[in-house]
Amino acid sequence: MIENSFNNSEGEENNRMIQPEYNIEDVELEYSLRPKSLNEYIGQEKVKENLNIFIHAAKGRGENLDHVLLYGPPGLGKTTLATIIANEMGVNIKTTSGPAIEKPGDLAALLTNVNDGDILFIDEIHRLSRQVEEVLYPAMEDFFIDIIIGKGPSAQSIKLDLPRFTLIGATTRAGQLTNPLRDRFGVISRLELYNETELSDIIMRSSVILAIPTVRDGAKEIAKRSRGTPRIANRLLKRVRDFAEVLGDGKITQELARIALDRLEIDSLGLDSLDKRLLHIIIKGYNGGPVGLETLAAALGEEAVTLEDVCEPFLMQQGFLARTPRGRIATALAYEHLGMTNNLQLTIES
Ligand code: ADE
Repeated sequence: MIENSFNNSEGEENNRMIQPEYNIEDVELEYSLRPKSLNEYIGQEKVKENLNIFIHAAKGRGENLDHVLLYGPPGLGKTTLATIIANEMGVNIKTTSGPAIEKPGDLAALLTNVNDGDILFIDEIHRLSRQVEEVLYPAMEDFFIDIIIGKGPSAQSIKLDLPRFTLIGATTRAGQLTNPLRDRFGVISRLELYNETELSDIIMRSSVILAIPTVRDGAKEIAKRSRGTPRIANRLLKRVRDFAEVLGDGKITQELARIALDRLEIDSLGLDSLDKRLLHIIIKGYNGGPVGLETLAAALGEEAVTLEDVCEPFLMQQGFLARTPRGRIATALAYEHLGMTNNLQLTIES
């Protein structure tokens, strides 16, 4: 059973075709495409292998799984993995998110309503308030919470025993978790951006489920432009299908995928306008860098977290951007991809 009090919205509008955050359409799409077992799940091999062992060991001992922290850029399948862990353990999962748990009482209500062995999944766990986090510590460690009843001098603290639940926390920013919270997770797994082969396997799998005729080269073309992110790959697959149905015979070929993705203004490597603006600013405004993240965010009129969580992991994976202690720098590859000359390098070399 999946209960959902999910609220992933940061309250801001984002219409980027290749934004990795959820939009409404994705929720439905992902639900239908979501693998149900580790065997069906493509990619993240190291994480999968380890989880498989922990799950089998816990089941073999008849114990609950230790608390698990999943972290990595958005759209890589943290929620999907949590659901799979629940399926593999044969337990229920209750899903919520850090900002949705406003008060300690909200957490108490969630934790007193799970059964022994069940999983509580908290997405965006780095956004829990300090007050709620402090209630979570004894809950995770010793399965009890202290709740305060009443106010003022007559207030009373009551110790409440909890079922032995497993917490799965997901975050894009492990660095923002406090040490006491991070230390209470027995398993910490980092999800990586997917490679092109894994993404095209995911696209082929989704095509079968959605009955979209797709040839391997078509899937590869979409994979190349999906920024290492299954959520983006599945979204692009649906948009390319629209083009294939209207401009062709419905089949997704490499040529059709190219036409569609060009029309969607997603470049040959998946960079969108914000990625390009980011690199342009570093190159033109700051001689290629180094330049600080906050300066870049102000220059682009974007949130620093968007640049850090969404643009940078992908630009670094592609070798276009490097982080140094003095700030961000654009690499020679970035100059080349954008068709710009590196004047600084020319001066040094000549
Ligand atoms: N759909 C989205 N992510 C997936 C994954 N990692 N494996 C299989 N199907 C997926």
